[in-house]
Amino acid sequence: MAGMFSGVGDKNLLVGLEISDDAAVYKLDAERAVILTVDFFTPVVDDPYSYGAIAAANAMSDIYAMGGEVSIALNICAFPGDMDEAIITEILRGGAEKVKAAGGILAGGHTVDDKEPKYGLSVMGFVALESVMTKAQARPGDKLILTKPLGTGIITTAGKKGKAESAHIDGAIESMQLLSRTAARILVEAGIRACTDVTGFGLLGHACEMAAKSGSGMRFSASALTFLPGARDYAEMGLFPGGTGKNSQAFGPNIRFSASVDQAVRQLLCTPETSGGLLAAVPAAKLDAVLTGFEEQEAFCSLIGEVTEEGGIEVTG
Ligand code: CO
Ligand code: CO
Ligand code: CO
Repeated sequence: MAGMFSGVGDKNLLVGLEISDDAAVYKLDAERAVILTVDFFTPVVDDPYSYGAIAAANAMSDIYAMGGEVSIALNICAFPGDMDEAIITEILRGGAEKVKAAGGILAGGHTVDDKEPKYGLSVMGFVALESVMTKAQARPGDKLILTKPLGTGIITTAGKKGKAESAHIDGAIESMQLLSRTAARILVEAGIRACTDVTGFGLLGHACEMAAKSGSGMRFSASALTFLPGARDYAEMGLFPGGTGKNSQAFGPNIRFSASVDQAVRQLLCTPETSGGLLAAVPAAKLDAVLTGFEEQEAFCSLIGEVTEEGGIEVTG
């Protein structure tokens, strides 16, 4: 039975449940593989168009984390029977326009009745075999880069509690809607092989996964991290989502903080992100090329740490 679920025995399944990465990767021929992923969630912001665009960007993010390009997407919808048609239309328009911006085709979908609205996509992408990036290929000495600022999770949570400034929410929306397509292209062109995207487990949770799968550790410098405007304020106010505590419990035993890292930042680094940036391990020899690539594309990229021989995650001040 296990084989039936994990795809054991099919040599074309390059990445499946057994390895578990950002998406499944299935080899098509000597050059190419197809990437499949699915993601959907309840509204993170009030504006329906933005919600649709964010959900779509978030779902497609796993294709980019694997080094691929988006090809076809299907809507996954759960809406209350009495939900305003105009709102549903806006959510779907936000998603459809984001798929188009990614160069993909929205080809259909499925809707069910549900008390709480949910929206997202199942996405198919393609990748050259030589360009597949995974969580398992970070090596000691590699430099760690992150391609979006942190803080979407705490800002949207503060927003739901009616405590966020609208400028801060707008900043988070802009970041969550941003496709990781440019970032992924720069990494693939530079020959980078170790990458994941920062979502529900927060920066340190996803770092734990990547480090464990790579058989190494990671060291981050808290002072090198960039937070969206407002994120630190809401952290000081303790407006964390429930996921922060769950992540801290799950990953805490593998994380060592220097005494100088303050409590709010410790929690922020374990706070779920929505449609967060790509976390990539870049061999030192390729770092200049990668940073130049981001500069040329005027895309955000910050150097936040390095891969270590010693296991576990260390965060210095
Ligand atoms: Co992912
Ligand atoms: Co995902
Ligand atoms: Co159907």
